[in-house]
Amino acid sequence: MIEDYEQRFPGNDIHPTAVIGPNVTMGTGNYIGPYCVIGMPGEHREKWGEDKGVLIGDRCKFTGHVTIDAGIEGRTMIGDNAFIMKHAHVGHDVVIYPNVTISCGAKIGGHTIVQVGANIGLNAVIHQKHSIAANVMIAMGAVVTLKCQTREEYMYAGNPAVEKGRNKKAPFYKTNLPGSYQTENVKSFPHVIGPVDVRIRCGDRTLIYSGIFQDVDEHTKNLIVKSKS
Ligand SMILES: CC(C)(COP(=O)(O)OP(=O)(O)OC[C@H]1O[C@@H](n2cnc3c(N)ncnc32)[C@H](O)[C@@H]1OP(=O)(O)O)[C@@H](O)C(=O)NCCC(=O)NCCS
Repeated sequence: MIEDYEQRFPGNDIHPTAVIGPNVTMGTGNYIGPYCVIGMPGEHREKWGEDKGVLIGDRCKFTGHVTIDAGIEGRTMIGDNAFIMKHAHVGHDVVIYPNVTISCGAKIGGHTIVQVGANIGLNAVIHQKHSIAANVMIAMGAVVTLKCQTREEYMYAGNPAVEKGRNKKAPFYKTNLPGSYQTENVKSFPHVIGPVDVRIRCGDRTLIYSGIFQDVDEHTKNLIVKSKS
């Protein structure tokens, strides 16, 4: 079915071949290119059919063939000014902070948080329930496992990915960037080392996003203990 999106999402430029699920909301100034599929059910064997939707901020670009799954436990969230290129996939319950770049073919596993200004290279793969620090560069083809804990403004490459020095091209978005990024209500998520923001601003909406990691499985718990020691 070819849909005309002008009425449903005014102020956005959406190609008629894009498929946008029933629980997707977005701000304005977004470009959604041909054959993007946004807000279809999250890929989870046991929780198949849950549809908590997708929230997209302002001025994002999804160039074409981009897939973004609906959340299962909370909304999948794409912060302002995301640039997501062809054949990239964003899994259910992922939180993408503002000013993030995701290159062609990259895959972001479910529940992962990608913090402000991070740049995910061509065909890189990020494990589910991970956290990618602000202004990090993930090299093309990298396989970012849970053991690979990223630090702000550093570069990671290889399979499994390891640190490769500072990200010389880090855009230096600061975590208190006014108007597009807020750091209130900082909490530690069980599987992440260090604090993670749970309040995110998308367009003119500020949402508190928490509780998504409460049911961490034993395997993930072991990894946390290991990487803390
Ligand atoms: C990560 C990246 C930015 C590094 O570029 P750079 O700063 O010029 O660094 P170098 O090429 O000097 O590489 C630094 C180290 O990382 C390694 N490296 C770089 N890219 C790598 C990759 N994709 N996989 C494995 N190792 C990689 C290099 O071998 C080198 O290792 P060494 O120090 O052990 O010798 C670049 O290789 C990259 O992947 N860019 C992303 C490209 C992309 O996705 N573009 C999107 C186009 S739309």
